[in-house]
Order: sequence, then structure tokens, then C-alpha cells
Amino acid sequence: MKEESLHKVKEYNGSPIQFKLPFRNSDKIDIRRKNIISSPKFGGSCDIDSKPYLKELGIEIVEKHQPIQFTSNFGERVHRWAPYIQGFSAAFVQSIIERYKGDYKSPIILDPFAGCGTVLVQSKLNGYKSVGTELNPLLQFIADNKVNSWDVDPEYLRNFFSSIPRNVRITAPEFLKSEKQFNKGVLRNLEFLKGGIDSLPSETEKQIKAKNLILLAFSSILIDCSNLKRTPCLGYWKNKKVLDSAPWMLMEEKIRDIYNDLTIIQQRFKKNISVKSNVILANAMGCRHQNNFDLMITSPPYMNGLDYVMNYKIEMGWLGFTKGHKEAKTIKDEMVVCDNVSKGLISNFAKSNSRYTNDWLDDIVNKIQRNIIRRGNYRRVDMPFIVAKYFDDLYKVMKIVVASLNPGGRFLLVIGDSLIADVYIPTDLILARIGQELDLEIESIEKARSRRSGQIRNYRLRETVLTLKKG
Ligand SMILES: C[S@@+](CC[C@H](N)C(=O)[O-])C[C@H]1O[C@@H](n2cnc3c(N)ncnc32)[C@H](O)[C@@H]1O
Repeated sequence: MKEESLHKVKEYNGSPIQFKLPFRNSDKIDIRRKNIISSPKFGGSCDIDSKPYLKELGIEIVEKHQPIQFTSNFGERVHRWAPYIQGFSAAFVQSIIERYKGDYKSPIILDPFAGCGTVLVQSKLNGYKSVGTELNPLLQFIADNKVNSWDVDPEYLRNFFSSIPRNVRITAPEFLKSEKQFNKGVLRNLEFLKGGIDSLPSETEKQIKAKNLILLAFSSILIDCSNLKRTPCLGYWKNKKVLDSAPWMLMEEKIRDIYNDLTIIQQRFKKNISVKSNVILANAMGCRHQNNFDLMITSPPYMNGLDYVMNYKIEMGWLGFTKGHKEAKTIKDEMVVCDNVSKGLISNFAKSNSRYTNDWLDDIVNKIQRNIIRRGNYRRVDMPFIVAKYFDDLYKVMKIVVASLNPGGRFLLVIGDSLIADVYIPTDLILARIGQELDLEIESIEKARSRRSGQIRNYRLRETVLTLKKG
């Protein structure tokens, strides 16, 4: 028997519509394959689809391969304390700092989407002040401790770590499926390790800082100890073998890395230790800054991209940054939208009358809506509104941060484009246009790398570095 689901959606610029999605679950794979092969985008590329937009903006994209991915940070000083895949590379941030070294005397650098703090760490290594905003409390904690613990005595850290009692046990966070996520012996050791860390004293500033570094190290070994992998989404890894002793072994290794990095920093970067880095736990859409900035370097969440809360739920749970799914959902719904947000959030957005849009965006959103209706099936029928909300969110961030950009200052965004329901979305060019509307000049758009669309693998997308400048 056919399953028929009735979907109600409001038309992007009109009245409510209803349509039927007639399919059996077993049909889904075939329908998906059929959609891919019959797609007008099959074998296409962003280069072709961007042409009309580029013509209107009167600019060209320059090919300039750059190491923007975080994977190259895994061996880098300080960055390696908590190496998260979806950050961008320290080498890239360094190249940007060097590119504009002559233009600004001692720039204060802003990253409104600070993540695990790549921009802030690299700014501080160069002796520049920096500010970051980050909405995920775990990532804010990590970034903050990566930049504000450089004065911790490495010997003290090592001895403090050695003093962890081995006989205090906590219970793994209840809302997580820890028995599935970790082998029995590993889980037992993690519970003792975390119990021991929690019972370390935290009365003096020295103790608090060292304890926070130990917690940061603990957060960064959790996935390695688990039966999961992050690539960059979190998923089970079938044949992964983890020794029961992994938690203590990996912790010792991590503390050794931090010890070595602190030793080098205190020898070679002594004068930078006191350089201010402020990592604020805040929504970039509403955070008004007290400083003015010369440089803003950031990588916003990509449309349709990662869920920055669910992807970190294990670390957030173990470190006590979230007590359950409900709390996690509240944080997620405040973030720049991804396609894993609640339907209620999108339906409220759809009802609101005030949102950022322009003729390109209206056209894109309407085409997505038509294609979803034509297909009669899509993983989220409210996708047109998710796309509209994504740009509304980024407009809010851009508007607020551009207000604190100094004349002559630059705003650099690393961003990827998307293909959704057979509609190409030139995210970089739309953000460039928003920049123009906010009185910024488009200085350059550099293509840093090509990538494949997740939906139609032979459609070529790109990742670019967009540079906007205030006159
Ligand atoms: C692409 S990541 C940035 C990674 C960063 N460049 C790094 O190297 O670690 C985007 C970050 O934006 C954060 N984020 C999403 N929405 C936000 C918002 N409204 N305000 C502040 N941060 C937000 C996410 O939690 C995520 O850490």
C-alpha cells in the first residue's frame, strides 16, 4: 500500500498550499537516484551558474588555492589542544594577517563565529588583540582557554594533572547513549577520569586555569575514546578498536602537548602572553561591540551545513554545558540556521513579515519551492524558508559587525556555496551583495578550492574567500 503524506506549506510569497508526497519508503532511494540523473544540474558547475550574478556585480572570481581547512592545524601549537575539523586553518589566518600587515598598525581582529578560536589564537601569536563571539558554550570555553591560559606554569599543570585522584567516579551524562558510544571498560575509565578532574581544587586563579586546561584536554579526547568518528558529522565507526586504557593514555598525551606548547610560548612569545583576547558567549546577530575593528576574519556556518550543537553533544554533555536535548535545542535554534532546526522555528519565521531579502534571493527561494512541489518529495519541505532564514541571519550579523568596522577596515569571509533542490545558491555572491548594500566595497572573491555537491556528486561547488572593504 502506498504511504501518502499530506504536507502543508506556506508559499514563500503567498498563501498556504498543500501537496501530496506519494511514495513508499522503499521507493525513496530510487526516487532520489531518478532526481539526480534527471536534474538539470547533473554534471554542471558553480562557474556556469554564477555567471549572471557576477555580471550584475561587475566582478570576477580569481582562482587562488589556499589551505582553508582545519585538518592542517592538527600539529600546530595551541590549535592542536582541541582540533575541531570544521574550523579553518591557522596557515590561512596567518596568510591573511601577513597580507594586511602593512595596512594596519596594530589591528584589533574580530571573529563573530569564533568556533574553537583559530583566528583568536593566531592573532595573539602575532601580538594582535582580538575579540570573538561564539554561541556554543563548549566552543566558547575551548576558545577562551586556548587564548587566556598562556601564563599557566607548565610544571604546575603537569603536577596538577598527576594529582588527579583515581578513586572518584561520576556517572556518564544520563541523556547521552554512553553505553553505545563507549566500550564498557572505556566508559568506566572516563567516569573515573572525569570524577577525578571534578574533585581537583578550584579555589585560586592558578588552580582554576590549570583545571580548565585539563577539562579542555578531556573534551578533546572524548571522540577518540569513543566508537564514533567526526568527518565532520558525528557517526558510528563500525570497526573502531579502542583500548580500555585509552582515556588515561590520551589524556597524558594531550597534557604533554599542552605542556610543550606552554613551555615554548613562555620562551618565544613572552610579550604576547598579556595581549588581550576576549571570547564572548553571545549571539553574533545581536552582539554590539565596544571596540572598533580593522580586520574581521570569519567563517560563518555553511548553509545546509553542520549542526554545531548535535555534533558536539558528547563533549557538551560530559562537560556539563548541556543537561539534555531540550537545552541543546534552545542553543541550536538561536544559531545561524541549519537544516536540522526545529520545524516550529521555521514556521514562526515563515509567519514573520520582516526579513532580509532581495530579488536574487526571492527568485532562488521561489525556484526551490517550485522544484520541491514538482518533485513531490524533499527531506525538508520548509527548505525555502530555511534558505531565506539563513540569509536573514547572516544579514543581521553583517549589519551589526560592519557598524564596528573602521574606515579602511576589511571583512573577510570564508564561505561555501550550495545546491538545493536543483537550485544553485551563490552564497558568496549574495553575501558580497549584502556587503555592497551595507556600503562596503567588494575588494576580491578568491576561489580557495572546489568541492562536490552532497546531492549531485558531479556538480562542482566552490569555497571562496570574500574580502569586503569599508571606504
Ligand atoms: C564554521 S564554524 C567557525 C569555526 C572557526 N573559524 C574555527 O576555526 O574554529 C561556525 C561557528 O559559528 C558558531 N555560530 C553559529 N551561529 C552563531 C551565532 N548566531 N552567534 C555566534 N556563533 C554562532 C557555531 O557554533 C560554529 O562554532
